[in-house]
Amino acid sequence: AAIVHHKFTIETQKVWRLCKEQAIVTVNGQFPGPTIYVHEGDNVVVEVENKVHDNITIHWHGVKQLRSCWVDGPAYITQCPISQGNTFTYNFTVTEQEGTLWWHAHISYLRATVHGIFVIYPRIGKPYPFPKPAAEFPIILGEWWNSNVEDVIREAIEKGDVPRESDAYTINTQPGDLFPCSAKETSRIVVKRGENYLLRIVNAALNHAFFFKIAKHRLTVVSTDASYTKPYKTKVLFIQPGQTMDVLLKARQGSETYYMGARAYDSRPSGAGQYINITTTAILRYSGSKYSVPVMPNLPPFNDTPTAYKFSSQLKSLFPSVPQTVEEEMLITEGYGIVSCPTNPCQWVNNFRAVGSLNNISFVRPSVDILQAYYFGIDGVFTRDFPNNPPLKFNYTQQNPPSMPLPSFWNTESGTRVKVLKFNSNVQIVFQNTAIVFIENHPIHLHGHDFYVVGQGFGNYNPQTDPANFNLVDPQMRNTIGVPTGGWTAIRFTANNPGVWLLHCHLEAHSELGFDMVFIVENGEKDSEKLPPPPLGLPQC
Ligand code: C2O
Repeated sequence: AAIVHHKFTIETQKVWRLCKEQAIVTVNGQFPGPTIYVHEGDNVVVEVENKVHDNITIHWHGVKQLRSCWVDGPAYITQCPISQGNTFTYNFTVTEQEGTLWWHAHISYLRATVHGIFVIYPRIGKPYPFPKPAAEFPIILGEWWNSNVEDVIREAIEKGDVPRESDAYTINTQPGDLFPCSAKETSRIVVKRGENYLLRIVNAALNHAFFFKIAKHRLTVVSTDASYTKPYKTKVLFIQPGQTMDVLLKARQGSETYYMGARAYDSRPSGAGQYINITTTAILRYSGSKYSVPVMPNLPPFNDTPTAYKFSSQLKSLFPSVPQTVEEEMLITEGYGIVSCPTNPCQWVNNFRAVGSLNNISFVRPSVDILQAYYFGIDGVFTRDFPNNPPLKFNYTQQNPPSMPLPSFWNTESGTRVKVLKFNSNVQIVFQNTAIVFIENHPIHLHGHDFYVVGQGFGNYNPQTDPANFNLVDPQMRNTIGVPTGGWTAIRFTANNPGVWLLHCHLEAHSELGFDMVFIVENGEKDSEKLPPPPLGLPQC
């Protein structure tokens, strides 16, 4: 195994998008940031130096960080942020995973421009479990704001309102032909007829899931979140924020030029207007062919929940090994909650505002990171009483017509509560979407572990009948999965990685609203099952 070394300098860079010049926060002036290539088993050393005034951390999204929780990256969860003028070195080994992941800033809204792809090749000499592609292309889906993203989130917090929508969606940071002043820079790939290509797709958007299609081409999904899947042929991909996908593209056309396009999915029945109704595009050309007006793919409409659900529930794991029994069972309601806000300005009725909640608790980020507090026994930072079940049972997914006025029984509590898991325990969590305030899809991301998605459905989860339909044979493995709007998702994983691990909605606006919780996985008996002491130079709060 090799040591892969990178230096990340966090600095501002001026870029042109949508007819305007703007200074953005970047790594090494690059947008997207540098791609990290490793082989499974390699050691990764990234020295991050912060030269901007915003505090920053970097998260290696989906990298399991076995016994290296200290460098996972979420601010105030596993580390204090790196402030201006300071450096922190992330040092970890990538084991037991292959495929496409990504890295991103894990504080505030900075990941809008601070992100890049993280490619894990199989160990040298070990083949892919699919035909070797002629070449590979990164496809990063993203979002662009015509203003400083830190101002966007600051304004929202000050007003007690949701952050304003972005101004464009992007492929490889370019909005594409259909947006103003963007045609010349539209991202493009060139292929040879008859060859097979690997697309490494990342949804790096802050607040939107996407449908993705290439006109007149079929795609084969071979991996999701760096776990191999049984080959899944499809015309359309559905990808949640945070998710990654490895997809084979057979170049079987050639006489025309084609668009790849992504369009936002919005799961709110009343969601119209909460997204940009313009397709972000990139161009697929065949080498040697003449340029023609690109053919547009026929993308599903914004509210096509059946297509989103079909795609999300049909993928199957190629090398499954699912926990057949569970020691810890949780039912977590997820969705909005409401808190009163007599002092803050309130954009909502009756002095209430909407927050994100899990089991009716809205997460409050502490001022010292939870990992240090746990490791060094600092009191008063968090409590260990995150409940295994919601406080109330009711018809979770029935919408109160209309969703305001707010149900008075659902006054959300705020707190920094963690759930403690025994080392090596098998955990089952059912996430139940609720209709409080809004009924809406939420992509749930777990740090430090991959999980199997053993069941999904609409309506209220029924613990008597639904487990009979769980797939305990070959369910897909993920680090991020959508909980369908008005439905539920059941996952299983083994808590085999000691440390402090964040679970949150990967819609950034939701995470900012408190849509997060934390697991502490205890040490095991053996030394090889314990969290080592912190690395040198850990930032202090
Ligand atoms: Cu992609 Cu907690 O993050």
